Amino acid sequence: MKIIKLNAIDSTNTYLKDLSRNVTVQDGTIVTAEAQTQGRGQMGSKWQSKTGRSLTFSVFKRFHGLPITQQPMIAFAVALALQKALQKLQIPMVSIKWPNDIMSYQKKICGILIENQLEGSKVIASVVGIGLNVNETEFIQLPQATSMRLASGIQFNLDEVLVLVSEEVFRQLQALDEGNSEVLKQTYEASLFRRNKVTAFESKDGVQFNGIIKGVADTGELLLEIEDESLQKYEVKQLKMLF
Ligand code: BTN
Repeated sequence: MKIIKLNAIDSTNTYLKDLSRNVTVQDGTIVTAEAQTQGRGQMGSKWQSKTGRSLTFSVFKRFHGLPITQQPMIAFAVALALQKALQKLQIPMVSIKWPNDIMSYQKKICGILIENQLEGSKVIASVVGIGLNVNETEFIQLPQATSMRLASGIQFNLDEVLVLVSEEVFRQLQALDEGNSEVLKQTYEASLFRRNKVTAFESKDGVQFNGIIKGVADTGELLLEIEDESLQKYEVKQLKMLF
């Protein structure tokens, strides 16, 4: 896999998207930056990270005709790749908070932002952006965050983590492209943070309610069993999980 290393950039996702519009980017290309001036998170949020202690990078993956209906599976495959890679690196209690935050115990260790390139009814490529907390020793303003170092007590080599995680992401997406989405969905569901536990949520109109996470729909929504025991589907923008 080809690695492009940058000192500072607005966002590795933006850089890789722009690059792929202008030249033919090799499958599996990785762009990593020491600092991002406009790191982007999910749902229009910002992603800030500490230079020298964390990884901010994007992986380019081509698909050979993945139907657009399979887009949620891309997010699930990447989350599973992160879980697998972190487990290999001895990070304890790794789970996936739907749709694709990676947790160690109850805290977020990694965020993922996937931007897909579509052609007709197919996804032809994805830019998979990953913000991974590696060697941070404190999160003063972010009590819900943790790092690989805090979770495991191990100091990591950033380059080694970058390669291991990127290879796993590539491998999982390659398998998805070759068509094993049912197994993937089941494995993803088994890894869900707070699966089968009563969990507090807030709907987009501010109503708090309890639900039990049961799994995900083929179309990507979260399946929650609510108080009358019915199963309801929720999209990301409809729901916030409360701790
Ligand atoms: C989130 O949890 O909100 C997703 C965060 C994703 C951050 C990464 S850092 C590398 C890549 N470039 C970006 O601008 N964002 C992603």
